[in-house]
Amino acid sequence: MARNYELVPRPVARVETALRRIVTDFPVPESLDILRQLHEYEPVAMQGQPPVLWDRAEDFSVWDKWGNRWIDWSSGVLITNAGHGRKEVVEAIRAQAAHGLLTNYCFPNEVRAHFVKRLASLLPEPLKKIFLLTTGSETVECAIKLSRTHGVKIGGRRKVVIVSFDKAFHGRTLGSQQAGGIPSLKEWIVNLDAGFVQLEFPDGFRTTDTSFEYFQKQLLDKGVDPANVAGVILETYQGGSASFAPPEYMKQLRGWCNAQKALLTCDEVQAGFGRTGTMWGFEHYGIVPDLTTFGKGISSSLPVAAVAGRPDIMDLHPAGSMTSTHTGNPVCVAAAAASLELIVNENLAENARVQGGRMLDRFHAMKAKYPQIGWVDGKGLVAGIACVKPGTKEPDPDLAWNAIRGSIERGVLMFSPVGFSGATIKVCPPLNITSEAVDESLDAFEDAFQAAVNA
Ligand SMILES: Cc1ncc(COP(=O)(O)O)c(C=O)c1O
Repeated sequence: MARNYELVPRPVARVETALRRIVTDFPVPESLDILRQLHEYEPVAMQGQPPVLWDRAEDFSVWDKWGNRWIDWSSGVLITNAGHGRKEVVEAIRAQAAHGLLTNYCFPNEVRAHFVKRLASLLPEPLKKIFLLTTGSETVECAIKLSRTHGVKIGGRRKVVIVSFDKAFHGRTLGSQQAGGIPSLKEWIVNLDAGFVQLEFPDGFRTTDTSFEYFQKQLLDKGVDPANVAGVILETYQGGSASFAPPEYMKQLRGWCNAQKALLTCDEVQAGFGRTGTMWGFEHYGIVPDLTTFGKGISSSLPVAAVAGRPDIMDLHPAGSMTSTHTGNPVCVAAAAASLELIVNENLAENARVQGGRMLDRFHAMKAKYPQIGWVDGKGLVAGIACVKPGTKEPDPDLAWNAIRGSIERGVLMFSPVGFSGATIKVCPPLNITSEAVDESLDAFEDAFQAAVNA
């Protein structure tokens, strides 16, 4: 169970720099009424994040109402790829709202027409048809539906197996949760669909056999006939650890899916739109999936998500059978279009590569220094720092939690630990973070980490 924050203010050292400002205790005493109100009217499941009451955010900075200012290492939850509150995105939202079309279901509208064409132009062949949705979970549901529809069409009703990976997270809806690989999150489902099978993810740390032969062996051990696989879905990198598969593994997986006529889906809900230092995360593997799912960083703001795929797959269902009430909402799409142009024009994928490289260098140096860091992974501006008991691979969630709280108290904002046993510190700033902010936040983070180790 995730550790929660007590709503009891602690005195913390004051911080005052050009980019960070901590001038109150934490949580802020004046924020407690609002925090308690949320506790009273929202489900407990909504709790667990640090009790920082966000008031406004701009680029890579977040402010509360009481004068505190943080360098953001969360991007919300990897949403604000172009930066928080970009004026171009705000203006696009304002202009579309003022224009007078706030919603129109799946009726045609011009802003959607422009966006799907633009997005398709940036994706490699054959990912040339785009279906807009609202959340990442919905896009995963859609990828599962398309994979199974295709499987049944070419192989009959046995070709429905969806292969995914242990520790994966694809969302919280019935299908996406079953594609996920975290058993505790699936306990409520009880009657799990036997057509969802998870294999170990070749992360090199928890699974040291990263050969593709091991993928095939596990399938065999689980009694799955490869001919019955309709699709393989994986996060381009595992969100819980920021781990990538070896490129050679992915090339073999691509070839294997072709041979089995199974569809390969890269879930880019986290990895897309420049996050990993390339526009699309799958570029690191030198492969192109049949389907890819996007969300989070697509708009840097309002809820919108997308499935992109091979036209023959995307067209499997007839007119009127793949819709959603808020499909391509014009205001959300206007925001996404503006965010996309910022990412392209400001070359934010390249900034992610450069700044992220510097951050990862520092985290690797910390790993060499602290035996409490078992593994560091990531690319571009996403990193995972796995906290362990020294000399073991045993997770240390308390250390991760304390390091994050200490960072926040020093003016570097992160969400709570993620991943295996909740012991991974995830670092994912907006992609327009500057060198100055990177250096300053790294120093504050290491100071907090050192203090957490000492404690
Ligand atoms: C890789 C991945 N896929 C899907 C989802 C689900 O997205 P949403 O929360 O928008 O439904 C997430 C959310 O964290 C994710 O990280």
